[in-house]
Amino acid sequence: MSSPLHDHGVISRYRQYLPVSEATPVISLNEGSTPLIHSPRLSERAGAEVFIKYEGLNPTASFKDRGMTVAVSKAVEEGSRTVICASTGNTSAAAAAYAARAGIQCAVLLPAGKIAQGKLVQAYLYGAKVIAIRGNFDQALQLVRELGGMPGFAVVNSINPHRIEGQKTAAFEIIEELGEAPDMHILPVGNAGNITAYWKGYREFHHLGRAKILPRMMGFQAAGSAPIFHQRVIEQPNTIATAIRIGNPASWQAANAALSGSTGAIDIVTDEEILAAQSWLASNEGIFVEPASAASVAGLFKLGRVQARRIVLTVTGHGLKDPDAAMMTGDYRPFDADAEVSAVRRILEEK
Ligand code: F0G
Repeated sequence: MSSPLHDHGVISRYRQYLPVSEATPVISLNEGSTPLIHSPRLSERAGAEVFIKYEGLNPTASFKDRGMTVAVSKAVEEGSRTVICASTGNTSAAAAAYAARAGIQCAVLLPAGKIAQGKLVQAYLYGAKVIAIRGNFDQALQLVRELGGMPGFAVVNSINPHRIEGQKTAAFEIIEELGEAPDMHILPVGNAGNITAYWKGYREFHHLGRAKILPRMMGFQAAGSAPIFHQRVIEQPNTIATAIRIGNPASWQAANAALSGSTGAIDIVTDEEILAAQSWLASNEGIFVEPASAASVAGLFKLGRVQARRIVLTVTGHGLKDPDAAMMTGDYRPFDADAEVSAVRRILEEK
């Protein structure tokens, strides 16, 4: 049981907007309340005030924790003994952590060979049953749809509406912090749950009078995995941003509704643009994100100067999730030196 003194996770903060009751056991790791960081350099490039919602600072280092606290709490309330999901890595890390916290089982179906090392390590350490599928994420999700009806099982992919409910709280936090919704919200799109969730959150607070405006929702997909942009299923999606390597998003229709309802747009960024944006953000703003998250920044660069007063970019996952991809952004090698002051000084004085 959680202690009210120490619990400040998203259910505790936003209970009245979430599908929970007194009977719901709150399974929380104090997720949410992530920093909204003003970015002077991005602001200059965009000609607008740009803020970064740094979701990599959640307990398992991605935005998935917001939805997972609600989905796992509801699964436990409903008597489930096992949660199951397909994942490109972050959902599985979050599911495994919250299942561990709840004392229930977790099974994760992952596309073999396409999961960043940090995410795989998380699933193992949190104690999940890790199943590597010879296939892609879309095939793994299809299997989960078929297996999810087994007795005692709860599916915790974003086809579970509780996930979307939890994730919408990021929009609430942004409105509370800025005192208003931004004019534009930029985020990466994979399975399209998050763009659906943000749009729901913005609309709910707008409806309640907590925000006067609604942002234009701008989604960015990786060029090799862009089914919504191309308006067709991509059978063999590919990208360095393995988190969004998805060819047939589950929330496709809801994403379309967010895009049209907000007069937003979906566009693509190449792997080269993603990697360049990832290293740019780290070395210019001190914010280290994984490749999928850098799609937001690459997207803003692609938009150039923007007709907006305030823009929020969600960066969805921490850079440490995927050190192998990060190392591909440059030719990184240390300067070798003997353990002598003179040797180190020589290097420091080099141009
Ligand atoms: N960024 C990261 C770091 C992600 O892990 C994901 C999705 C997205 C963006 C896209 O969000 O799917 O809601 O459109 N990761 C899922 C997973 C698919 O299994 O971890 P989305």
